[in-house]
Amino acid sequence: MILITGGAGYIGSHCVIEFLKNNLDVVVFDNFSKGHSKIIDKIKSKYDINFFKGDLRNKNDIDLIFRKYDIEAVVHFAGFSEVSASTVQPKMFYENNVLGTLNLLNSMVENKVLNIIFSSSAAVYGEAKYVPMDENHQLMPKNPYGKTKLIIENILDDYEIAYNLKSVKLRYFNVIGANYKENIGEWHDIETHLVPNILKSSLIDDYVFNIFGDDYETKDGTCIRDYVDVQDLVHAHYLAYKYLIKSNKSDIFNLGSGKEYSVKDVYNCVCKVLGYKIPFKINARRKGDPAILIADSSKARKVLNWSNETSLIESISNAYEWEKILKTF
Ligand SMILES: NC(=O)c1ccc[n+]([C@@H]2O[C@H](COP(=O)([O-])OP(=O)(O)OC[C@H]3O[C@@H](n4cnc5c(N)ncnc54)[C@H](O)[C@@H]3O)[C@@H](O)[C@H]2O)c1
Repeated sequence: MILITGGAGYIGSHCVIEFLKNNLDVVVFDNFSKGHSKIIDKIKSKYDINFFKGDLRNKNDIDLIFRKYDIEAVVHFAGFSEVSASTVQPKMFYENNVLGTLNLLNSMVENKVLNIIFSSSAAVYGEAKYVPMDENHQLMPKNPYGKTKLIIENILDDYEIAYNLKSVKLRYFNVIGANYKENIGEWHDIETHLVPNILKSSLIDDYVFNIFGDDYETKDGTCIRDYVDVQDLVHAHYLAYKYLIKSNKSDIFNLGSGKEYSVKDVYNCVCKVLGYKIPFKINARRKGDPAILIADSSKARKVLNWSNETSLIESISNAYEWEKILKTF
């Protein structure tokens, strides 16, 4: 049995489907603080999963899972992830991400469950010193969110030395796309991510798409990012799980496409999918946003045998199909 924390959320729900399709039994743990019960209902209508509503900040909640199920490995998505919010509410982020994860890890060690795949982030790197950024790039997170991820990575290293807990840390770049055929996709009540924000402005009256900063030192002044498709990304989690079980070795991998797109490039690609131009507003930079983040994911390709084949336009088209479904929820 695989425990997936945060499985009612965006990436976690896609991972649930990926693991189920690979014939693994799954128990999902989520408090619905950001995820949605409707997503779990959709998955349950088609697949056999166990779901437990609980909060990682309450250790008893997570202890129950390890007592009830024979867990082989944990895939840990649960956490808060909005960069801007973390700069104004760091307490909430340290409590939820760091303390929540500590409860999870302590419960794992107590119950002798010693394999974890952890959702880390490119936010651990901070400003790029060079691109593409490999796993050896310096770690200087620019915001509390990235700091929580780095703290957890360090805790995982210490828990390996002391308690033999093995971890695969996956540093995601910008995740986009949706598995709309399974009725799942990105669904955040406050949406801070680029693609859903542009799409929403085309589907929802009075929803304005904002570009945060057009004065960065980049080709068109907007931030440059690396966009990786969510279905490719969750496949890497399955490969990481197999790697962990087979090799019993901890490791760390970047997950990105290696391709550079500015905010305006993505905007133009969305307009191409829609077939028309949508209006946008230029706003001030958001606190904590680095100018450029591009992944060197060659290690994941080599060691995990991972490949990501979904193009930007394909991911955006899938996200568009999902946004139309979401409007009917
Ligand atoms: N989306 C991205 O582009 C991206 C990039 C890098 C890293 N990440 C990381 O990947 C993970 C998943 O991201 P996402 O976009 O799917 O986020 P999400 O908010 O959609 O999903 C997170 C899920 O965790 C649950 N959760 C949060 N705190 C919890 C707690 N204390 N107890 C139980 N459940 C809790 C939420 O209800 C939600 O369902 C996060 O850890 C995030 O930091 C995401």
